[in-house]
Amino acid sequence: MFERLIGQSPNFEALLRSAKMVAATDVTVLITGETGTGKEVLAQALKQHSPRADKPFITLNCAALPESLAESELFGHKKGAFTGAVGNQPGRLQAADGGTVFLDEVDSLPIPLQAKLLRFLETGEIQPVGETHTHNVDVRIIAATNANLQDKIVKGEFRRDLYYRLNVVPLEIPPLRDRLGDIPLLLRHFMEHFAQDHKLPVASFGKSALQRLSSYPWPGNVRELRNVCERLSILLAGRVIEDGNLPPEITNRATAPKPLFDLPELGIDLEKVEMDLIRQALTRTNGNRSRSARLLGISRDTLLYRMQKYGIS
Ligand SMILES: Nc1ncnc2c1ncn2[C@@H]1O[C@H](COP(=O)(O)OP(=O)(O)OP(=O)(O)O)[C@@H](O)[C@H]1O
Ligand SMILES: [Mg+2]
Repeated sequence: MFERLIGQSPNFEALLRSAKMVAATDVTVLITGETGTGKEVLAQALKQHSPRADKPFITLNCAALPESLAESELFGHKKGAFTGAVGNQPGRLQAADGGTVFLDEVDSLPIPLQAKLLRFLETGEIQPVGETHTHNVDVRIIAATNANLQDKIVKGEFRRDLYYRLNVVPLEIPPLRDRLGDIPLLLRHFMEHFAQDHKLPVASFGKSALQRLSSYPWPGNVRELRNVCERLSILLAGRVIEDGNLPPEITNRATAPKPLFDLPELGIDLEKVEMDLIRQALTRTNGNRSRSARLLGISRDTLLYRMQKYGIS
């Protein structure tokens, strides 16, 4: 099953190594990664390599659940618990007893349910809506999200205690732009796959087209690449694909200059950065202001003005 996850770059291989180790256990796993990086495929691979491989695997997309139904979906309900509850209905956790539940887009779980999920993770007990007593359920939880849970915690949208409980073993799938080396491999895999699928002769890539595809940042990650391959493998079956055949979003991309600094997720204090750079320049030049100004690409007057502004002597 892990064979379905194509990639050989060091960061991807490290992820697969960790994944194989945790697969064999019952530990709760949190898979993070941008859209299209393969979180669902990884969750299935984990299940397939676990002692629960032949037991149920139930996926619950937390973002697709209306808040009013979420609790009953997850924990079930008793007959008469609410209007429309015409019979006892087991929830997904109970339905998966002995197996695995995949909580996709777990960041979308409403806050009150987050508390209930946490209680389940800690006690292994569920309490269906309208029921007075609890049941034990033996389920392994694999959760996934493409959201930044730290941000959500800060905004009060995700419970910190649940985060720690889910994040026992974090598996972070790197975005494709951080493993550009895997692109040729993925392209070959999908071109062959779709040629076979559609019973067409396989197309290949010219050198320049391959280069473009290999440096494109793929915001939609493997899903985007897969879709491009499906389109090309049908429209250009058996041909050599050149630049002009590539989708416009790839060829028309203004080659944006690579940023000098990567703005951290949580932002920075620009003045502090400026102060810090000025100090570094002064230290490097033993306090020589003209040379410091040159290092910073500003005039000596500007440097003096800023030193005064920040109280640097
Ligand atoms: N490493 C990989 N090797 C082969 N196929 C992959 C890989 N990663 C992803 N895919 C394929 O890319 C597509 C998207 O994968 P998947 O649905 O698992 O992404 P996701 O991370 O769950 O995305 P989203 O956050 O949008 O739900 C699927 O068709 C999947 O088979
Ligand atoms: Mg998904």
